[in-house]
Amino acid sequence: MRHQNKAVIVTGAGRNIGEETAKLFVKEGAKVAVVDLDDRGQGVADNLNAEKEGSAIFIKANVADEESVKNLVAETVKAFGRIDTLVNNVAISDNLTIRECTLADFQKTIDVTLTSQFLTCKYVGEQMIEQGDGGVIVNIGSTSGFKGRNSAVAYCAAKGGVANLVRAIAAQYAEHGIRVNSVVPNRIGSPVGKEEFDPGRYVTNMLHRPGLPEELAAAVNFMASDEASFIYGENLFVDGGYSAMMDGS
Ligand SMILES: NC(=O)c1ccc[n+]([C@@H]2O[C@H](COP(=O)([O-])OP(=O)(O)OC[C@H]3O[C@@H](n4cnc5c(N)ncnc54)[C@H](O)[C@@H]3O)[C@@H](O)[C@H]2O)c1
Repeated sequence: MRHQNKAVIVTGAGRNIGEETAKLFVKEGAKVAVVDLDDRGQGVADNLNAEKEGSAIFIKANVADEESVKNLVAETVKAFGRIDTLVNNVAISDNLTIRECTLADFQKTIDVTLTSQFLTCKYVGEQMIEQGDGGVIVNIGSTSGFKGRNSAVAYCAAKGGVANLVRAIAAQYAEHGIRVNSVVPNRIGSPVGKEEFDPGRYVTNMLHRPGLPEELAAAVNFMASDEASFIYGENLFVDGGYSAMMDGS
């Protein structure tokens, strides 16, 4: 098992990509703190505990709020004694053009999608440094952080920030044995902020189908494992080849 007895935090684990990521970590031997703003995270933790007793806790938290992040770190340490791995999965999208997007809309998306990653990396990082034996952080990016789009101005900016935040934090935490990377999805299951899967969702990739949350979870699981021990500050595209293709080809 790749993550035997590891203590893992997965943010936004109440559904979709985060939920599947939490499930796979438990399957691979880890104990998971299922973090979500919504109580649906309790159901995910309950299901994991029904599968494997003591494998999960639910922490209700707002990852855009500094006190809430400090509290989720303390709660995880209280439950598991330490933190080995952090997966930053939470994001929201504004789905607005610059003409539609107010300053408040812009700041909200930046806070939840980008600033949250700064906060969790900061406070979980301090905990890992105190533990003294390293750790792993995997942030979830998006292809929207690498290209322009005709909507989602704040989300594109936030995810662009995620791509380079990862490189900066990787460079700053490497000396502490903390390995930081990102996984970059495109068109996985349902759109960000939505529960329901849309079978007609438009996809332009080499496979002509959306990715499955399980496929993203597998990439996160690999990036967090010792098999990725020489990978630092990388943004790994998991997008069915979308980013490698010319539009219209
Ligand atoms: N779904 C896609 O097609 C896609 C594509 C590219 C990138 N991504 C990225 O993958 C990640 C997961 O996407 P998803 O589609 O599974 O998202 P989702 O919207 O289905 O789930 C996100 C979860 O985060 C929780 N959440 C939202 N704000 C929060 C906050 N402030 N604090 C704590 N929890 C909060 C929500 O309650 C929800 O359970 C995101 O980072 C997203 O940007 C997804």
